[in-house]
Amino acid sequence: MCRPTADERFAFIETARLIIRRFAASDDAPFFAYRSDPRVSRYKGWKPESIGEVEEFIDRMSRLHPNMPGTWFQLAVCRKDSGELIGDCGLRFPDGDDSQVEIGYTVAPAHQGHGYATESVTAVLDYLFGSLGKRRAYGSVEPANTRSIALLERIGMRRQAHFRDSVPPDGEWGDDVIYAILDEEWNRNGRSVVHHGQQPGFGGSRTIRTLHRPV
Ligand SMILES: CC(C)(COP(=O)(O)OP(=O)(O)OC[C@H]1O[C@@H](n2cnc3c(N)ncnc32)[C@H](O)[C@@H]1OP(=O)(O)O)[C@@H](O)C(=O)NCCC(=O)NCCS
Repeated sequence: MCRPTADERFAFIETARLIIRRFAASDDAPFFAYRSDPRVSRYKGWKPESIGEVEEFIDRMSRLHPNMPGTWFQLAVCRKDSGELIGDCGLRFPDGDDSQVEIGYTVAPAHQGHGYATESVTAVLDYLFGSLGKRRAYGSVEPANTRSIALLERIGMRRQAHFRDSVPPDGEWGDDVIYAILDEEWNRNGRSVVHHGQQPGFGGSRTIRTLHRPV
């Protein structure tokens, strides 16, 4: 089996309101602030305890690229108008399986309720199916995480499984539900698979561009 090609030239994805880019060292303080907020960290596997832990995380990301097997690659989600870091989107590229990708996402509590998660995850799925040629994308969610489930259903993912006591104890065992979508379902729903284009959505048209750095 061929090893997938790491997207070393990836620079950023642009949507109507967002820039979704690689993390930078200067993201440490805002990233730590919302990721250590209990309203966020209660749903996340990784809960940074110190700014130093976040700095190490960002440093590790600077050595990775999207589509490297056996890694999580984290994207920074920023508002285009202010440049502010408002969230992130994680992509897990499983080792030995070039066709699937797991996604995770977070929006800082102060920026929730404006459709930023919908907009960023939609653009990231366009990138995964359109640019990287993935076959299936999925997310694993706690059944009680209703906002996350609403997001996945809003973007057209289907519930495919409910696993009992599948999340190791952090106090007690937890369930997770799996939501997924295939490339053909995504494309059938009218999403763009090109790097640059206009498409309807979220009360207006939006532009998605995936930009690459020169080699
Ligand atoms: C999961 C999470 C990202 C969802 O965030 P969210 O703000 O609810 O989702 P969106 O950004 O897509 O916003 C949707 C809301 O904005 C509203 N909205 C306003 N403008 C909108 C627009 N232009 N487009 C879409 N929705 C819009 C929607 O009506 C919806 O409101 P509602 O919640 O009252 O129904 C967020 O709750 C979070 O970060 N949670 C903590 C971390 C977490 O659980 N991550 C997932 C682990 S699996």
